[in-house]
Amino acid sequence: MAKERFPIHVEGSGDASGYAHERVLVSLERAQGFGQLKNLPCKLPVGCRRGGCGICRVRVVAGEFRADTMSRAHVSADDEREGLVLSCCIYPLSELSLRLEPAVAVKDKGQKAAKEA
Ligand code: FES
Repeated sequence: MAKERFPIHVEGSGDASGYAHERVLVSLERAQGFGQLKNLPCKLPVGCRRGGCGICRVRVVAGEFRADTMSRAHVSADDEREGLVLSCCIYPLSELSLRLEPAVAVKDKGQKAAKEA
């Protein structure tokens, strides 16, 4: 497998790079460790690393990626279509531009769904 490496831009925070076989969250953590995300307001939010806790939400503003299954409690099908995803569940297929997004508490997500109904 070729080790394709793509630039990953984190809006307002700095630049990273990631491999096509590597979860974007891992790429961001590596960049943070090397001091490449100098303008992060705080440490990267990391939880379960498997798409279950929702803490690592990002919006893909530009670029292509592939995704593993994500918890619908944290990322709805509409969210995913609009590029709002979990960084521990996506892999870059091209240069990416990301915006860090706050996690949504599952309870709040349910209330949001009820308001929209
Ligand atoms: S770290 Fe838990 S969903 Fe990504």
